[in-house]
Amino acid sequence: MKIRVEPESSGKKDGYDIIIDAGIIGGNPAGKTVSLLNSAGINLKAGFLAVTTKTVHGLYGDKFSAFLKKCGIENFDFIVLPDGESTKSLKYLSDIHDRLIDKRMERSDYIIAFGGGVIGDLAGFAAATYLRGINFIQVPTTLLADVDSSVGGKTGIDHPKGKNLIGSFYQPKAVLIDVDMLKTLDKRELANGFAEVIKYGAALDADFFKYLESNYKKILTYDEESLIHIIERSCSIKADIVNKDEKESGLRSVLNFGHSLGHAVETLYNYENIKHGEAIAVGMVFAAKLSKHLGLCGEEDVNRIKNLIINSGLPADIPDFTPEQYINAMKLDKKVADKQIKFVLIKRIGTFEFKMLDFGLIYDYLTKLTKLKTP
Ligand code: NAD
Ligand code: GLY
Repeated sequence: MKIRVEPESSGKKDGYDIIIDAGIIGGNPAGKTVSLLNSAGINLKAGFLAVTTKTVHGLYGDKFSAFLKKCGIENFDFIVLPDGESTKSLKYLSDIHDRLIDKRMERSDYIIAFGGGVIGDLAGFAAATYLRGINFIQVPTTLLADVDSSVGGKTGIDHPKGKNLIGSFYQPKAVLIDVDMLKTLDKRELANGFAEVIKYGAALDADFFKYLESNYKKILTYDEESLIHIIERSCSIKADIVNKDEKESGLRSVLNFGHSLGHAVETLYNYENIKHGEAIAVGMVFAAKLSKHLGLCGEEDVNRIKNLIINSGLPADIPDFTPEQYINAMKLDKKVADKQIKFVLIKRIGTFEFKMLDFGLIYDYLTKLTKLKTP
């Protein structure tokens, strides 16, 4: 299946295809793959640098090299970086730039992000900044990257003071999603990506949320058909939003449902021992409870979100940091203005509402929840 991303803000000229299938890298006949790349406008005679991690290279490096050769790509190389969020840093950005310069790569050449969201964000930012912009292709290998980070052009690195603080919007030329590669992802990583899938249903699509409630067991046991379905639906919801609001001047903020508290949780954990999707899961339950507290949605909506999150093996409870710590971490959010934060709330499952909320209100509600937790 192909989904087209055509941001209105760039007059559709920077449009690209998201190609979703099983066997793109390892299984498809050469002819099919080459025609996919040709139709995406990729110049197979250019130079390619694939940015990846040790784990992904160990699992798929040979297969990916064979795939590139099968496509007629001869001039390619890998840069293999450590696994983990700390790779999304200035040091590794600089390592990629060094390699691009050593190889004398030109604007018409390509960086391939071959990995999860960490690699996609980092390699995308390297592509945005080298020679003021070199071609870039996303080949995501985690569920989180398939359904969210590989689509929409948010690229960047973390700063010691906060996540994703340095970055740019920079769209890829194509996104190739091969669900076969999800088979080697461990269950915790699969659930991590599933949190972002729940986000689309909870904030934007009630029928999709119902599908997830009925099928989460199949999805989390790697059933190919249901995985393809949730990736297609998630990408098409995201493409629709990005097409209307590429640079997040309004509507795109809905994709941050669960992220205001979620990012604070990640910061307070110092990005260690908690995964992005797990932090977002906690943030979604908090946002749903806050929505009910403000009279927007009912108890049943909160319970359905909480139950799907718990049933998927994701955390729902707010970790034991103080309300002061949460508020201080949230103040670094990019959606803060004038002592208020733009919060994504739900009116009912599948329908969202933006509200500017005072930090005082969030502090009081966090205090109330913390007291409720005390035995
Ligand atoms: P990740 O990139 O760290 O990948 C998780 C782990 O899985 C890594 O150790 C990786 O090497 C390994 N891995 C990758 N593919 C594998 C495979 N097929 N089989 C086995 N192991 C594999 O984590 P992630 O959850 O994919 O991405 C998280 C990052 O994405 C965060 O930095 C987050 O901020 C970012 N993000 C960005 C956006 C965006 O719009 N740009 C959206 C959501 C999240
Ligand atoms: N992950 C949120 C966005 O892409 O806007």
